[in-house]
Amino acid sequence: MKITLKSILLSCYKGECPSPKPKKKVAKQISLKRISISDLSHPSSTLTEDLSISLAGSNLHVFTLAELKVITQSFSSTNFLGEGGFGPVHKGFIDDKLRPGLKAQPVAVKLLDLDGTQGHREWLTEVIFLGQLRHAHLVKLIGYCCEEEHRLLVYEYMPRGSLENQLFRRYCVSLPWSTRMKIAFGAAKGLLFLHETDKPVIYRDFKASNILLDSDYTAKLSDFGLAKDGPEGSDTHVSTRVMGTHGYAAPEYIMTGHLTAKSDVYSFGVVLLELLTGRRSMDKSRPKREQNLAEWARPMLNDSRRLGRIMDPRLEGQYSEMGARKAAALAYLCLSHRPNQRPTMSTVVKTLEPLKDFKEIPIGAFVYTVPSDDSSMKELKDCEAPKEVKKENGHHRHQLRSPKTPRFQSKTDPRQHSASGLNSPEEREHRMNAKHINHNLRT
Ligand SMILES: Nc1ncnc2c1ncn2[C@@H]1O[C@H](COP(=O)(O)OP(=O)(O)OP(=O)(O)O)[C@@H](O)[C@H]1O
Ligand SMILES: [Mg+2]
Repeated sequence: MKITLKSILLSCYKGECPSPKPKKKVAKQISLKRISISDLSHPSSTLTEDLSISLAGSNLHVFTLAELKVITQSFSSTNFLGEGGFGPVHKGFIDDKLRPGLKAQPVAVKLLDLDGTQGHREWLTEVIFLGQLRHAHLVKLIGYCCEEEHRLLVYEYMPRGSLENQLFRRYCVSLPWSTRMKIAFGAAKGLLFLHETDKPVIYRDFKASNILLDSDYTAKLSDFGLAKDGPEGSDTHVSTRVMGTHGYAAPEYIMTGHLTAKSDVYSFGVVLLELLTGRRSMDKSRPKREQNLAEWARPMLNDSRRLGRIMDPRLEGQYSEMGARKAAALAYLCLSHRPNQRPTMSTVVKTLEPLKDFKEIPIGAFVYTVPSDDSSMKELKDCEAPKEVKKENGHHRHQLRSPKTPRFQSKTDPRQHSASGLNSPEEREHRMNAKHINHNLRT
């Protein structure tokens, strides 16, 4: 029996998920038209007729819960990678013993937290968007599982985790300038693809934690749970409930609920600012006027003297001044309060393209301090040094500045001491402060 998108997703949508039969793949795609979540929202309407379209062209695999338990060693703490609003993420390994023809590879398995705030709809949105969109700068969805109330997603494994972890983990080697620009460029290309695909998509949740990094720092966008189809015909915007993340969402979207591609451009500007300054988009531990990064930093972006003061101290002056000025000017435009003054992602990509080739140029003192205690050394060991960076610079870079804030403490949750060492208590606190927003302004 063929498994069609209609049979699987519709039955899942109605909450009548059949146990997916192992060793079967979704049937062949018979139409090029990309289907939308709205096509599934009213299963009784005629729109559902279109659902004979399947996702098989994208080679999505349907896994059983039992299979995913095996490949993640029962979601063991040693395989834990991190946790967001959807639920925990564990590393696993798949090969052709699981499905004939399946490439042997590590994967990341995301499990819906049944007590959490997200649910079937976010899962379905992710499957529908990522199942049909393929691009070098979007994370690859390999398959999913939908069994009774359980919802899981299986992605390609991204060895360097999220940009959030790479940029803000205190004891990690600071990302060098050219790597930061490479990440900005890659993420911009992912967003450009979404904005310019046949049926444009607004991503709506562009932020550092949703940018995943391959071993060579190729950036890929993940998490399509909030993605929306762009406006159609003569419509200028999509009206939605306000959802996103504090510190990243565009001001006019928060005020009106009017969503456009320019809302994504604003969020891109915030991430670019995070890359320049090494500060989080929202940081409650800072003085009040500095807590919202975009509001605080924007006036300084067009002034090269003041720009020098807000550049990430962890860069230790090792950046191209010209490159920084150009990136700052771009961030300034992206963060404009008038959406139509923001550049398109196409302009953003063109502007960033040359910047990734600007080498680090020492323009300040090269300051470093050595960690003073054992725990710092442990955290250091958990971080993977970006090896190619040393070659690129041609000189050795010391890794740390002395920490000014308390170090990681809790050992109560074994998952905090996982394979990749992610999700320290401090990072969890930041996540709590930067939670998704919706109309009720969940904070
Ligand atoms: N494909 C992947 N490969 C490697 N690690 C991943 C992958 N997907 C997610 N992770 C890790 O799992 C963690 C949780 O990711 P997830 O996308 O669920 O939440 P988040 O982005 O941190 O938060 P939010 O719910 O706000 O999006 C991330 O920190 C990331 O490092
Ligand atoms: Mg995420």
